[in-house]
Amino acid sequence: MPEMNSHVPQHVAIIMDGNGRWASERGLPRREGHRAGAESVREVVETCKELGIKFLTLYAFSSENWNRPRTEIKALMSLLKGFLRRKTPEMQKQGVRLHAIGRLEELPDDCRAELEKAIEHTSSNTDLDLVLALSYGAREEIVDACRQLAREAVTGDLDPESIDNDAITQRLYTAGIPDPDLLIRTSGECRISNFLLWQISYAEIVITRKYWPDFREADLHQAIAEYARRHRRFGAI
Ligand code: IPE
Ligand code: IPE
Ligand code: MG
Repeated sequence: MPEMNSHVPQHVAIIMDGNGRWASERGLPRREGHRAGAESVREVVETCKELGIKFLTLYAFSSENWNRPRTEIKALMSLLKGFLRRKTPEMQKQGVRLHAIGRLEELPDDCRAELEKAIEHTSSNTDLDLVLALSYGAREEIVDACRQLAREAVTGDLDPESIDNDAITQRLYTAGIPDPDLLIRTSGECRISNFLLWQISYAEIVITRKYWPDFREADLHQAIAEYARRHRRFGAI
């Protein structure tokens, strides 16, 4: 029998996919799928807290999602704004600390303002760190880290020969956040879609066919159980 990994993951990252198909199959506009997905977020946050998971990262909007029709982008941004406004008091009560990663400067001003407010209001909470990936692309994140390294090298603050894994890790948007142990993708798609490329080097990957709006507490428990059955070797034997 393989060695069991009994620990719950410290950090779970989720590619929340399938909102559009969930809606289409019901004859609803895609926007309704995004709206329904908010309930899954609530349930997953609650379940992570119960399980003692310390970090939850949710892929909410990718760099590439800017290529969607303007109407869908508008709907997503307005849902995001409403979500942040409604959920901040709840996150406060639950001890959830909000973070955001991505090129946040590309978000509409009103969304960014709501986001900054929520981050500030929840900044002293310690039970669960909730990281929203917004206007996020992993390649863009690595590009931004390279630019930062180059700036420091040019000013003489950094010796290029001293650049190592840690130097890069510390200049990513996720600096200070441990790598995900478990990566979940919903909707059955078997791809990464430019999410956390650097950080998922050794993440365990679980893909479920459920669409994100159908993803519930039991589905998270199932993914964690699958994770617990995995034998993480990190290249050793
Ligand atoms: C995920 O659902 C949400 C975002 C990418 C913003 P999709 O909108 O990608 O839904 P599908 O994949 O088209 O069903
Ligand atoms: C990934 O889903 C991005 C988010 C979940 C926010 P997509 O639906 O954008 O990814 P692709 O297009 O199927 O790769
Ligand atoms: Mg999709």
